[in-house]
Amino acid sequence: MFDFADLEIPLVGAPMAGGPSTPQLAAAVSNAGGLGMLAAGYLNADQLSGQVQQTRELTDQPFGVNLFCPADPNDNPANAEVLLQDYRQTLAPLGREYGLNLLSEELILPDYFHSLLDWLLTNPMPVVTFTFGCPSAEQIERLQMVSTYVGVTVTNPQDAILVTQASVDFLCIQGPDAGGHQSTFRVQDEVNQLPLSQLVPAVQAITDLPLVAGGGIGNSEDVQSILALGVEAVQVGTLLLLSDEAGTSQAHRDALQSGITETRLTRAFTGRPARAIVNDFVAEYNALAPAVYPHMHYLTAPLRAKAKDVGAWQYINAWAGTGLSQSQNKPTIEVISDIFDR
Ligand SMILES: Cc1cc2nc3c(=O)[nH]c(=O)nc-3n(C[C@H](O)[C@H](O)[C@H](O)COP(=O)(O)O)c2cc1C
Repeated sequence: MFDFADLEIPLVGAPMAGGPSTPQLAAAVSNAGGLGMLAAGYLNADQLSGQVQQTRELTDQPFGVNLFCPADPNDNPANAEVLLQDYRQTLAPLGREYGLNLLSEELILPDYFHSLLDWLLTNPMPVVTFTFGCPSAEQIERLQMVSTYVGVTVTNPQDAILVTQASVDFLCIQGPDAGGHQSTFRVQDEVNQLPLSQLVPAVQAITDLPLVAGGGIGNSEDVQSILALGVEAVQVGTLLLLSDEAGTSQAHRDALQSGITETRLTRAFTGRPARAIVNDFVAEYNALAPAVYPHMHYLTAPLRAKAKDVGAWQYINAWAGTGLSQSQNKPTIEVISDIFDR
């Protein structure tokens, strides 16, 4: 069974769905002595299988897989359709600039969760983590029966209680400075405002389970101060976004190096709170975005894809944590050496 104590360095390379996580990045983190993660949030089982195989060719060290728990449809407001239609109207002029008719676009909402779980039961991984909710105790137990070490990402003490009751093996604590989506359990949840340094002790008061903590970690002092709280490992995402092995798009890399250092939590892209660089899209649409998920993700996806293709970083979801200015173009091993003083 996986054990954090067996890692050479107490580091988890954050799963980063949508491009940045690659087999190369996961393998580089594991080869450096940490735990690399693949992000299956937007993958189907065949795609995950391909990525696992590729990663195994690049490392013989353990690595893990992260899944998104599906949202409960009842989480969306009763007038979700009206809210979505309003947002379509708001974005329609921008869509036209990219040759898209957002008003008539059909939203297809794929659900790969159960097929991914089935794949993981027949192809066991050392570590699996879940985001956006907690799987059932039965689903967790089935993974544990195939010797998978199971973690769930929480952003507040209340959800830590739920997760502990579901008998997970460990918790990932995500602070409000983290880049990308917050792992809030319900679509309408507002983001916890306790900084990571206070959130960790608040969760430690609830559970003795092993903890991983991340969000806003930018240098070795941040790493040391979070480890000093008594967690098993730190989880780092944004710091790896510019690394050579990351699959971060050129547009996203351009946003990270644009000189804009302001980030904010916004529902503008997906309907769920996520920390992104404040580019033109965030500045213009943040206040108008409804909390409807995952529909908002699929509504804005074609627009973001077109913007990405033409390098228009002002209109993509440039996820980043508050430590973004410390992210650098270099091999992952060097990024890791910098923060672990090796
Ligand atoms: C581009 C990007 C994509 C992310 N995608 C995921 C994901 O697929 N699953 C997940 O659990 N967390 C995801 N996260 C959040 C990270 O797991 C982690 O909480 C965060 O990166 C830590 O904060 P930091 O970015 O400040 O280091 C993502 C973060 C970023 C920056």
